[in-house]
Amino acid sequence: MAVETLDVDRSDTEYRAWLKEAVRRVQADANRSADTHLLRFPLPEEWGIDLYLKDESTHPTGSLKHRLARSLFLHGLCNGWIRPGKPVIEASSGSTAVSEAYFAKLIGVPFIAVMAKTTSQAKIDLIEFHGGSCHLVGNPAEVYEVSARLAEETGGHYMDQFTYAERATDWRGNNNIAESIFAQLRLEPHPEPAWIVATAGTGGTSATIARYVHYTLQDTRICVADPENSCFFEGWVNHDQSATCESGSRIEGIGRPRMEPSFVPGAIDRMMKVPDAASIAAIRVLEHHLGKKAGASTGTGLWSALRIVAEMRAAGEHGSVVTLICDPGDRYLDKYYSDAWLAGQGIDIEPYRQEMERFLNGTGLLG
Ligand SMILES: Cc1ncc(COP(=O)(O)O)c(C=O)c1O
Repeated sequence: MAVETLDVDRSDTEYRAWLKEAVRRVQADANRSADTHLLRFPLPEEWGIDLYLKDESTHPTGSLKHRLARSLFLHGLCNGWIRPGKPVIEASSGSTAVSEAYFAKLIGVPFIAVMAKTTSQAKIDLIEFHGGSCHLVGNPAEVYEVSARLAEETGGHYMDQFTYAERATDWRGNNNIAESIFAQLRLEPHPEPAWIVATAGTGGTSATIARYVHYTLQDTRICVADPENSCFFEGWVNHDQSATCESGSRIEGIGRPRMEPSFVPGAIDRMMKVPDAASIAAIRVLEHHLGKKAGASTGTGLWSALRIVAEMRAAGEHGSVVTLICDPGDRYLDKYYSDAWLAGQGIDIEPYRQEMERFLNGTGLLG
């Protein structure tokens, strides 16, 4: 006797129609969007070094997380993880949640952000503006567990950016951030940058850039700048995946208490540990030279990029360096742009600001 064929067909015409429409809406958002600018940071012409900032603050939801949220939604939808009427839940320090709230609304599902209660009010307002709700927790280390529990209780989907950021993004191309940077550098004096400097929250951006660089056979090296109160630097230097850090990062969006699964240490060439005062000083310098306010994570990357520029200059090298504007500064007026907040934190940005200004006007060294 032949073994009987078993057949379970779970196809659901209504769900598939919903899925198709949801994917179309997310893709249509990308189709309507223009690329983000690659801005030049003015350096003295005679240095023969060009510094660029990929301005990710111009996405519809104002940060580099717009790319990630789009990728996570497409990944979650195509895997059948995001379902009609069921909430999407995320552990986010803010920017990811702002972008995910936007995409959740776009496809018509509820969105809940689980975040530290120290997150700026402006970000909470933005999440609510996009139709999301916020679940605040006292201990930042609890956000993962609370998110997973909420997903279980509601039958929703825990997006888990810290695990899926690196794999949801199409690192070989598809106009990811790295492909876009290289396309925009094509007509520049040094189209293959000596260095690209990123910062790490999930680690997804640095993983995407590093993988793309290796895949497309570039000589560009990748530096990740880490703030105080983060374990990425120590974990990377000591090859220790179990590294942790007790206190929370003051630089919103970056610096983590554990080695996140989306942080890919082997793909990176170099890391720098940046004092928070230097990160915040760098966004004041950015505003002075570019007329733009940015979040402090942009300053962390800019400080490192300027140190690399100084190094190249000292070695008589010509070339280009790229870093990112991660999100806009108007989200942090009561924080990084507030002298009262800086004083309350015991942060003195002046020595770093002066050091950078002296370096940029050719009267001093950096580092
Ligand atoms: C403002 C800001 N800058 C930088 C990053 C780092 O990006 P990634 O998560 O890709 O490491 C984040 C991530 O949350 C962020 O919110």
